[in-house]
Amino acid sequence: MGMVRIVRFVRVAGKTHFSWLSQSSHNSCNSHNSHLLQQIMSETNGLMEKVVSLCKRRGFVFPGSEIYGGLANTWDLGPLGTELKNNIFQAWWKFFVQSRKDMMGIDPAILMNPKVWQASGHVDCFNDAQIDCKDCKKRFRADHLIEDALKDVKVEGLSLEDLKKLIDENNIRCPGCGAKNFTEVRKFNLLFQTSIGPTTANSEPVYLRGEIAQGMFVNFKNILNSSRKRVPFGIAAMGKAFRNEITPGNFIFRTLEFELMEFEYFIKEDQWEKQFDYWVKEMKKWLELIGIRKEKTRVREHTEDELSHYSKRTIDIEYETPFGWKELYGLAYRTDFDLKKHQEASGQDMSYLDPETNEKFIPHVLEPTFGLSRTILMVLLSAYDEEEVEDAKGNKEVRTVLRFKPNVAPYKAAILPLMKKPELLKKADAVFDVLKDEFALDFDITGSIGKRYRRQDEIGTPFAITVDFDTLEDQSVTVRDRDSMQQDRVKIAELKDYLKNRV
Ligand code: GAP
Repeated sequence: MGMVRIVRFVRVAGKTHFSWLSQSSHNSCNSHNSHLLQQIMSETNGLMEKVVSLCKRRGFVFPGSEIYGGLANTWDLGPLGTELKNNIFQAWWKFFVQSRKDMMGIDPAILMNPKVWQASGHVDCFNDAQIDCKDCKKRFRADHLIEDALKDVKVEGLSLEDLKKLIDENNIRCPGCGAKNFTEVRKFNLLFQTSIGPTTANSEPVYLRGEIAQGMFVNFKNILNSSRKRVPFGIAAMGKAFRNEITPGNFIFRTLEFELMEFEYFIKEDQWEKQFDYWVKEMKKWLELIGIRKEKTRVREHTEDELSHYSKRTIDIEYETPFGWKELYGLAYRTDFDLKKHQEASGQDMSYLDPETNEKFIPHVLEPTFGLSRTILMVLLSAYDEEEVEDAKGNKEVRTVLRFKPNVAPYKAAILPLMKKPELLKKADAVFDVLKDEFALDFDITGSIGKRYRRQDEIGTPFAITVDFDTLEDQSVTVRDRDSMQQDRVKIAELKDYLKNRV
């Protein structure tokens, strides 16, 4: 039997407290999905529970296909989640692509020639080790099962047989039903398969991409020839990736389809250590840029056993979630593995000719990779806050605030006419028109002004702009700051600049 490397190529095995989401039917219709949110809320700790509940209540994230009972572990981004995702992506693109001279962005196809995935090693190596409970039919990742049951046991690099032995010798029971009646451990390939056109017995499977990286590698020569970039330079892309995960779960942390942003940075081999350190620093700057709490992150070095087949060195940037320290991002030194493999398999020359030295070589690659879906979760966890405040009558209440950095906040400001009087609505419309070309805005006319402020706090809108009767006289509005709750009176004519200086 082959050896399954539980390696970073897939991800690092980690502790999870959400085994209830590890059902075997993870890619089939789940009639219990309508209870998914309740399940999450009852089985996670307070913070996760509150964030998940807020996401549904305010329109950040909804369970996928909910009216049909859902499809397990699929999630839809609602209006605010979509804005949040787009803002994070745009900030990433600006920081890593547009503001650099050595980076270019592309948008490669999801479907690629299957030979790409054979050459890259995904068909053979993109595996997890799965084990099923024969009694309740639940399916688990064998490494997760062991690591959840036994403290401080390292499973990376163990063979399928060794994983089973560990499970048997330690009397590990099924977290679903408590039985000790498991199948053998088997390799499970994570690539999603589909087919093009009518299928026949001999038709070759086509894969949904498991990472974006291969789209960059196969376009290496196209980019080189069309842009005349010189090494070192990078190619970046974002988009959906698909993995037939055995144990998806923890809300949007591990899903079957997710958004990924990554780039391949092509270098001369002797530069890799210097460049590696440089990119760790840039990744840390990025975390700060989008408001991920520094004290909740750490860098973890991969052990030799964990390294992917292509990697000589890998680090993870981990985040301390309510369900443990988890991988948020990765940085891998992929050497010249991918370009060499594609050169061998395609017969195309993948080398680079240095115009100054006339040296011809296959560039080495550093790959910073950023799960966008995971970023959404960590930005939400970082931003969530509650504080005790007094209402107008001096009663104490809890204010929930998403303290988003303004650059990622779904709305930069909300326009709130004090009352539903036609003259106030008309003026509020005019204020909306003044700002709409430059800022994403909410416009809310329902409920008391206090309730509307709370609603905007809860969705992280940095500024609430109230149009009142004085506005009709003095052409000014009240601007309330989300974090300090301080209010400024600002002339409508100066409003644009006021916001520009603050968001
Ligand atoms: N090209 C390298 C690569 O794909 P990876 O560590 O397997 O590396 C990259 O995945 C990032 O994608 C991870 O750091 C994580 O943020 C995110 N990710 C991986 N699997 C995921 C899943 N099932 N659901 C959500 N995000 C995932």
